[in-house]
Amino acid sequence: MLLLNKQEIKKVFSMKEAIEADKEAFRIFSENKSVVPLRTNIQSEKEEGSMLFMPGYIGELDCAGIKIVSVFPGNSKKNLPVTPATMLLMDGTNGQVISVLDGTYVTQLRTGAASGAAFDLLAKKDAKIGALIGAGGQARTQLEAMLTARELEEVRVYDKFEEYAIKFVEDMQEEMKEYSAKIVFAKTADEAIDNADLIITVTTANEPVFDGTKVKKGATLSCVGSYQYHMQELDPVVLQNASKIYFESQDAVLSESGDIIKPLEQGLIKKEDFTGELGNVVNGTLVGRENDDEIIVFKTVGISVQDIVTAQKIYDKAIQEKVGLQW
Ligand SMILES: NC(=O)c1ccc[n+]([C@@H]2O[C@H](COP(=O)([O-])OP(=O)(O)OC[C@H]3O[C@@H](n4cnc5c(N)ncnc54)[C@H](O)[C@@H]3O)[C@@H](O)[C@H]2O)c1
Repeated sequence: MLLLNKQEIKKVFSMKEAIEADKEAFRIFSENKSVVPLRTNIQSEKEEGSMLFMPGYIGELDCAGIKIVSVFPGNSKKNLPVTPATMLLMDGTNGQVISVLDGTYVTQLRTGAASGAAFDLLAKKDAKIGALIGAGGQARTQLEAMLTARELEEVRVYDKFEEYAIKFVEDMQEEMKEYSAKIVFAKTADEAIDNADLIITVTTANEPVFDGTKVKKGATLSCVGSYQYHMQELDPVVLQNASKIYFESQDAVLSESGDIIKPLEQGLIKKEDFTGELGNVVNGTLVGRENDDEIIVFKTVGISVQDIVTAQKIYDKAIQEKVGLQW
């Protein structure tokens, strides 16, 4: 069994590879070639925590896996991570666990890569300005994905807490030096998205984070944060103005995300406005962007197929490059 920590994963696996892994995952999912049971949620009433078990099997790649993610808000007082995650990868031909990976980093990678895949497939080729709303745990890989998908000149970063955004921008100016884009702090979300070609929302907000009428023609948005009914980041007017709306899993988004469920309930949009799943753009059965004026929205809540495909690709690279601890 191969144990892989964050540093080892970073050493062998790039964002470009993660984007390709997600594209493959989305295609496999949309072609119904994966087995993804509903996740199991076990509650610890005593500790007010939940333990989520997210399994899946992919016959085409002969692999299976499970991500275990816990949410224990009390952990912050114990100096422990609030949402620790571990990924187990299995050989689909014999059922053996072949690798244990840092699940927190696999999640960050595959979630960033989902935005990267959407931009790669749907954004204007000459996109120049990016906007990142939210500077929390997922933000770094979101930024890297945006920079990988298009050669941007500038990315503006906004967070509700100014100090988070300022610190994040300082760190990223150093860490993302290999990309030519200027990474700058924005004082408001509206300032960040002004004239932006690529927009990512990755917050825990319960109300829209910017004025949707200010989104320019031709923009592509990836909405990542809202995964529960009460959570909403996207101004519904963007959905009304959008030429196309894609999901990674339409069922998952429609059962979880306030970003889409609320405007549907309010009659602001209709199911007929939905274009379909990104996996079908990957396999060519669904059209992507058709001109440079379309506003395009991609909404993702995350599916376990992304975790499993990404873990399998990381494992293959790590074996090839002899990285990680054999146990
Ligand atoms: N789609 C997916 O696959 C996927 C995967 C992982 C996490 N998520 C979700 O993405 C969201 C962000 O995750 P995270 O780990 O970065 O969380 P986090 O708590 O580390 O960071 C969230 C950030 O959003 C900021 N924020 C909250 N409200 C805001 C607002 N109105 N305007 C601007 N900024 C605001 C917070 O200040 C914080 O910095 C969460 O809701 C998480 O559950 C989605």
